Amino acid sequence: MGSGRIRVGVIGLGTIGRRLVSAVTSQPDMVVSGIGVRRITPFALASRRVGHVLFHTAKCGDAIETHDGDDYAGGLDDLLATSDVIADARQAGLGATFIPRYRRSAIAAVFQGGEKASDVDCTFNSFVNYEAASRHSAIRITSCNTTGLTRVLTTLHREFGVDRCDGVLVRCSTDPDKGNNGLVNGAAPTLHESHHGRDLREIAPELRVYTQAVAVPMSFSHVQALTIQFKRRVTAAAIIELLENTPRIRVGDHTYGTTTGDLANYFAYTAEPRQSRGDRIEVFIWRESVAAEGSVVKLITSVDMQAITIADTVDCIRRMKFPKLARSECLLETDRNLGIAKQPELYRHVGVERAN
Ligand SMILES: NC(=O)c1ccc[n+]([C@@H]2O[C@H](COP(=O)([O-])OP(=O)(O)OC[C@H]3O[C@@H](n4cnc5c(N)ncnc54)[C@H](OP(=O)(O)O)[C@@H]3O)[C@@H](O)[C@H]2O)c1
Repeated sequence: MGSGRIRVGVIGLGTIGRRLVSAVTSQPDMVVSGIGVRRITPFALASRRVGHVLFHTAKCGDAIETHDGDDYAGGLDDLLATSDVIADARQAGLGATFIPRYRRSAIAAVFQGGEKASDVDCTFNSFVNYEAASRHSAIRITSCNTTGLTRVLTTLHREFGVDRCDGVLVRCSTDPDKGNNGLVNGAAPTLHESHHGRDLREIAPELRVYTQAVAVPMSFSHVQALTIQFKRRVTAAAIIELLENTPRIRVGDHTYGTTTGDLANYFAYTAEPRQSRGDRIEVFIWRESVAAEGSVVKLITSVDMQAITIADTVDCIRRMKFPKLARSECLLETDRNLGIAKQPELYRHVGVERAN
């Protein structure tokens, strides 16, 4: 992969930013060049304690606009000067406001799904358009639900041919650390089509997918109930075998051997030594939910909104800087360092590759 580690500046130390800092730190070919914050928080202090350098990036100006004593190593310009790629993980819509600044510095930037497709060069998912990362300099990763949908549907489409998919997404109204933003009671449907299927069609137009979404008072992970119509007859066993043999997808039993079966059991399982913070980077599929009748399959998945996009973000950063690196090699490297790798040969055929 060449010498010299990729210097990644992370801006925004919220739910996604904190996980990006950990993920980049875990990759031997990458280094966190600095973290951009707009105020000192317990997370900023904790990051500095483990050796990360903080930059004050509250404004898109040329210098530090405000200054808390000697807390910062510099402003946005300084962070850009020490970075090869910026991972911008600020609240939805804020990332786009810095794009002109990143372009002036000729620095590549990766955003999350809260940015609008029209504000960036391309929407990225490692299972669909991995190679596009080396052709663009302002890229957003698909949102959490769309990332989960994309992994499952492109995998099934490649092998069996998906005719169409209708999905009902039960969405967490907020993250565990944002209680003041969420519903306390009730259920809030997105009237008309939700953006998730639409976003997937943007990068994989051959997939006919329609999603509805309902936000409910929970913060554990989203749940997706999918009805998939294939172009030919399929069996539940064949679907399960394919999904089990696909990276970043985990097929698991309802209870994991415990007596009460719900997502809390799965969380407890992953919170053990495997993943820090109990993160579930893989999309989870309940084995028992996979039911086939003729050419129609129903299944239920769980998407950890806080973690699922992290792997794709790391792939995107690596491909931006190593434009010849094969997808199989890149994804395997990411997954090994994140502790979720499957057997290397399973990375040879992942998703599809489109030229967008
Ligand atoms: N959370 C999820 O479940 C999830 C899943 C998939 C995708 N996403 C997307 O990921 C992105 C980030 O979401 P998030 O949930 O991680 O947001 P978040 O938890 O609210 O974190 C955003 C962070 O950015 C910081 N920030 C804002 N302006 C800044 C600036 N100029 N310089 C430095 N830091 C700044 C905020 O600081 P303050 O503390 O001062 O506000 C906050 O810490 C969004 O596009 C979102 O749509 C989120």
